[in-house]
Amino acid sequence: MVEYYLECITCGKKYKAEKGLYWCKDCGSIMGTLQIIYDYESLKKTIDRDSSFSERDSIVQFEELLPVRFSTDIDKFIGGTPLYKFKNKFGIENIMIKFDGISMSGSYKDRASIIAVNKALEEGYDTIFCASTGNAASSLALLSASTLLDTYIFVPSKIPRGKLVQLVAAGARIVPIESSYDQVFDISLDIGLKNNWYCRNSAVNPYLLEGKKTGAYEIIVQNNYEVPDYCIVAVGDGTVISSICKGFSEFYKLGLIEKIPKVLGAQAEGAATVKHVFENGKPYKPIIEDVDTVADSISVGNPRDVVKACTFMEKNGGYFTTVSDEEIIHAIGEMASETGIFSEPAGAATLACLKKLLSNGKIKSCDKVCLIVTGNGLKDVDALGELSNIRKYTVEEAYKLFEGVKYEV
Ligand SMILES: Cc1ncc(COP(=O)(O)O)c(C=O)c1O
Ligand SMILES: [Zn+2]
Repeated sequence: MVEYYLECITCGKKYKAEKGLYWCKDCGSIMGTLQIIYDYESLKKTIDRDSSFSERDSIVQFEELLPVRFSTDIDKFIGGTPLYKFKNKFGIENIMIKFDGISMSGSYKDRASIIAVNKALEEGYDTIFCASTGNAASSLALLSASTLLDTYIFVPSKIPRGKLVQLVAAGARIVPIESSYDQVFDISLDIGLKNNWYCRNSAVNPYLLEGKKTGAYEIIVQNNYEVPDYCIVAVGDGTVISSICKGFSEFYKLGLIEKIPKVLGAQAEGAATVKHVFENGKPYKPIIEDVDTVADSISVGNPRDVVKACTFMEKNGGYFTTVSDEEIIHAIGEMASETGIFSEPAGAATLACLKKLLSNGKIKSCDKVCLIVTGNGLKDVDALGELSNIRKYTVEEAYKLFEGVKYEV
C-alpha cells in the first residue's frame, strides 16, 4: 500500500496511521481534523496520464492514491459514475454534470463508505457506525450489507422516506433520534467510540475524504485531462468540498493537470454556516447556527469539517454562494427537464448557484463549468411538494384530448 502520514489541519502535527486515531490529540475533533499526505514526488514516477487511469473504471483504479486495499465483492462497482456533457444549457456553452445519483445507494457518499468498510475490515473491527443526514447512512447500510460487519446507523428521525426505506431494506440497526443532525452526530460519537466500533463519520474520519476525492479525479480523467474553469458542489459539513479541492490539488501535484478548477460551494440560505465561517476570515473558528432548508442533506448548523473546508477553499481560490429553497426546488425541475438528470435538493443547489453566478456576472457563458450532483432525486420524492395540482382525466377525457390527432404508422 502507498505510504502516507496524517497531518493536523490546525497545528500541522504529523501522525503515523494508528488504529482508532481520527483527529489531532492536541486540537480535538473539530479544530484538529486530519488530512492524509502522500509522497507525491515518488508517486509522480509511477503515475502518468497514458497508462494509469481509464474513463469508466471504478474507484479501484485509484488504489495507488488511496490509503486502503480493496477487498470486498462490491468495490469495483463504486465510482465510475457518468460525466454528462451538454452544449448550451442554462446559459453555459459547455457544461458538464458529474452524476453520482446512479451510484449503488444513489449518492456520492458511496465513495466514502467503501473506504470505511474496507478500512474497518482491514483493522479487524466487527462493527461500524455512522451518524448522517440520510445519505451516508443509507450508503453505509447498503455497502456493508454484503460483508460480515454489524452496522449501526444514527439519524434524525425526520430523514426523508426515500433514505429511510434503504436503511430498513438493508437490515441495518437503525437509531432514529428525535433531534437535529448535529446532536445525532455527538450522540453517535459518544456511543460508537465507547463501544470500540469503527467510525464512518466523514467529518472526523480522515480516510473517508480520500474516497470522496476520487470524484474530482474522475472529472479530469473522463474529460480527457481538460480542466473545467469552475466546479460547483453542495456543502453541509464541508467534507465533500474539501475532498474535491484535495482531489484536484493532488492531480496538479502529480503533474497530471496544468491548472486547478475553481471550486465553488453551494449552500442553502437557511444553512450557510461554512460560508459564514469562511467569510469571517482566518483563523477559521467553528460556529454553531440554527438552520432550516428543504435540502436536508446540507442542513447542517454545526459543520464538523469547517476548518478543513475553509483552509482548502482558501488555497483553491474558490468561494461560497447561497441559494434560496425556492431556487433549489425550481432547479430540480429545470435540471431534470433540460438534461434528464433527476437530483435531490442538495445536488440541484449547484444549478441554482450557477444561475445566480451567471446573473451577477461572476461566471460567463464561455466558462467551462462542472456541476457535481451528489444525490438522486428518488431519495427525496416529497421535495417537489404534493403534486396534487397535476390534472387527472377520466378515460373518456383522455381519449378526447387526442381526438383528431393523426398517428404515423
Ligand atoms: C447529496 C449530498 N450532497 C452534498 C452533501 C454535503 O456534503 P458535506 O456534508 O460533506 O458538506 C451531502 C452530505 O450529506 C449529501 O448527502
Ligand atoms: Zn493539531
